[in-house]
Amino acid sequence: MSEKIKNTTCFIRNRLNLAPRRFYTDMPGGTVENGGLPAPEVGIVLGSGLGALADTIETIGTLDYAEIPDFPRSTVAGHRGRFIYGRLGGRYVIAMEGRVHYYEGYPIQEVVLPVRVLCCLGIDTLIVSNAAGGISPLFNTGDIMVIEDHINLLPNPLVGPNDEALGTRFPDMNGAYDPALRALAHSVAEEQGLTLREGVYVGTTGPSYETAAEIRYIRTLGGDAVGMSTTPEVIVARHQGVRVLGFSLITNTLSGNPARLGQRASVSHEEVVEAGAAATPKLCALVEQVVERL
Ligand code: HPA
Repeated sequence: MSEKIKNTTCFIRNRLNLAPRRFYTDMPGGTVENGGLPAPEVGIVLGSGLGALADTIETIGTLDYAEIPDFPRSTVAGHRGRFIYGRLGGRYVIAMEGRVHYYEGYPIQEVVLPVRVLCCLGIDTLIVSNAAGGISPLFNTGDIMVIEDHINLLPNPLVGPNDEALGTRFPDMNGAYDPALRALAHSVAEEQGLTLREGVYVGTTGPSYETAAEIRYIRTLGGDAVGMSTTPEVIVARHQGVRVLGFSLITNTLSGNPARLGQRASVSHEEVVEAGAAATPKLCALVEQVVERL
């Protein structure tokens, strides 16, 4: 395994006093027997403006990314940078408050390092969230979409020598977004009286927002929402055999009316962060209940 993934996993495990759970028990670190805390079962990536989900977690420990040697740090406003370990819905979880993006200039392997490490800490479920522009004409600002599938237009993080300790050379991406978890999300949403959309997320490099022609292109490809993250993270989680559930918060719409498809309104980062914050409570309640019923 890459020394960096291994060293970072060990560092976090030691700092948060986590016992190994399922994977990589050869790594140094605590054990439950000698006082280590239970390894997290669920990893959660909190996207743009969704940081408030962190408040729902009964925090046991936190670790700033800045304290972790050679760990990538986000340069984007609205993204904090720390791990939060604690309890949510009766389970041990670890959340990433803030992620790094390819557009910040990090190589794609660095972008996915935090998720690689979450998987090495022993999670068996990863919940990813992001802010996204709505491409489907059915979507409104503030909608929550469960990700049915993705189209990755970012570099693939598995390019390069394959690390057999992590996963196979040619991992299957069919059903990458676990159908049973999606069904669970829909049934929880129904109980909560929440309209939950479903669709295909298209991951692009950004950082420029889409032109009108690019919006038509993404729609033609089969995309329902577009954003600048997530797909590389999901690819590595699936490579490591971790099941995935994903949510996009639709912070702006790019084609409100089919007749005007592609005649997009302008969008700004501030608007995206604001819409994210407004819809966060709904997403928090949904994620908490989903975690409880995993
Ligand atoms: N495009 C790309 N990424 C985004 C958007 C968008 O319109 N909104 C939020 N993230």
